[in-house]
Amino acid sequence: MNRKRRAEELRSHRWYGVRDLRSFGHRSRTKQMGYAAEDYSGKPVIGIINTWSDINPCHTHFKERVEEVKRGIWQAGGFPVEMPAMSLSEPFQKPSTMLYRNFLAMETEELLRSYPIDGAVLMGGCDKTTPALLMGAITMDLPALFVPAGPMLRGNWRGNTLGSGSDVWKYWDEKRTGTIGECEWEEIEDGIARSPGHCMTMGTASTMTAAAEVLGMTLPGASSIPAADSGHPRMASMSGRRIVEMVWEDFKPSDILDERSYEDAVTAVLALGGSTNAVIHLIALARRSSVPMDLGRFDEISRRVPVLANIRPSGEYLMEDFYYAGGLRGLLYRLEEMLHLGRVTVSGQAMGETLTGVYDDEIIRPLDDPLQEEGGLAVLRGNLAPDGCVIKHSAADQRLLRHTGPAVVFDGYDDLAGRIDDPNLKVDADSVLVLRGAGPIGAPGMPEWGLIPIPRKLLERGVRDMVRISDARMSGTAYGTCVLHVAPESHVGGPLALVRDGDEVELDVAKRRLQIKVDERELSRRRDAWRPPPRPYGRGYGAIFAGHVTQANEGCDFDFLAEGASIPEPEIH
Ligand code: FES
Repeated sequence: MNRKRRAEELRSHRWYGVRDLRSFGHRSRTKQMGYAAEDYSGKPVIGIINTWSDINPCHTHFKERVEEVKRGIWQAGGFPVEMPAMSLSEPFQKPSTMLYRNFLAMETEELLRSYPIDGAVLMGGCDKTTPALLMGAITMDLPALFVPAGPMLRGNWRGNTLGSGSDVWKYWDEKRTGTIGECEWEEIEDGIARSPGHCMTMGTASTMTAAAEVLGMTLPGASSIPAADSGHPRMASMSGRRIVEMVWEDFKPSDILDERSYEDAVTAVLALGGSTNAVIHLIALARRSSVPMDLGRFDEISRRVPVLANIRPSGEYLMEDFYYAGGLRGLLYRLEEMLHLGRVTVSGQAMGETLTGVYDDEIIRPLDDPLQEEGGLAVLRGNLAPDGCVIKHSAADQRLLRHTGPAVVFDGYDDLAGRIDDPNLKVDADSVLVLRGAGPIGAPGMPEWGLIPIPRKLLERGVRDMVRISDARMSGTAYGTCVLHVAPESHVGGPLALVRDGDEVELDVAKRRLQIKVDERELSRRRDAWRPPPRPYGRGYGAIFAGHVTQANEGCDFDFLAEGASIPEPEIH
């Protein structure tokens, strides 16, 4: 350890170390909690931001893991302080956890700022918790380290492997067509989530925890360890030991994160066939680090990075298999020539020093035998999405990647739910399903509604994929030819607001194009006639959100969080 700071230079010294009235209060109240001066005096205070909650199934083990993190902190001579923060529980929180990502980012930043914290351990994993915790910690820029929740074990139904999300959509369609019945559906419900941990497909959780590791914000290998594996608590206590050293070294996110880290994270996300949500989160994170990241950069990298991870929904296997095959360190080893391996990570080692081998070429494919030649995500533009949109083409029906068809338009989810299975709906397999009013402000919170269901009458005819377009997001565990994140969203007058039933819509992924074939004069007439709908939330947090959230192509951060004058350390009087 390269010790750069003395105890008197710790941030917490201002609370504990001076001899005045206020510091008397801080010391006496710490003693009230049962700690003697020997427990905390002159030691780094480590804030553990814990997103455990009784309503977050992905974080059920955090009650125990936090004790393991604390064990490591005590061992290394630190003083652990657990700080619960809002848990963004993907299955339960409505209308969408995305509405609250910035809330948790802000909470993380303010918890770290307003208390005597010298360094932070961030405990998250369920989808938006990872970007939220990192966004707050990056802005606060205290030594910080991320402890990923780890994926849950494989699901199982009558000997068939089940993957979170992906197999729910698959068997739901089977149930809608009557191929399976209520009994089978209940058995699937019993077997799909068998242990603590986040979704074990390459959904947003696995994608973003991997991104956190590639950025350099976790210990090497941490993101691939299944939550139920004994390696997971060992990683947690090691993280506790390491954060104390990081405080003495004054080793902060700004020492770790630069343009190279974000490029490497994008490269890895693409090679993983990762979630489309990563586009929004990585842009938001990069901008917090003052790194200029945009959709164009994503697309550029996507054209040269193949998909190597054979994980659902793009591939066949699950995170548990990926871990046994070498995990993220194995994948990065395969990508070596495309990465910046000299970059330092929270471990203090360079990224290149921490790579391992690959133990199963079927699961982590070699560069000369990829799952797909091109990265799993493409950025499209055109008169329907002037500021861009994305498609996970690795998880789409390849026949539909160049397609023109008539639009069938739905205004918001209620309209969609009310009409999609109507036998009289004018729709066929060539139609393009369009959902609007589902963006950051319109929904609000840009829910994962982008996997528009296939109309039942087409499902019954064997149709399993169609071109679908929306200003919503889609679960990273989902699959299908879904064009997402159309920007600007319809609620603010983006061209999606102007589409009408029957308009011809052209998708051409190879040309990165999304066009509505309506002439500009007609579009301009429609634009003049368009009136903004009322904001969904008139007061409270929802109103703050609508007033300040940026569009998807800009990362959906709040304008006032992404930039602005620096904030001084709090006064202590
Ligand atoms: Fe938590 Fe999927 S529900 S990660």
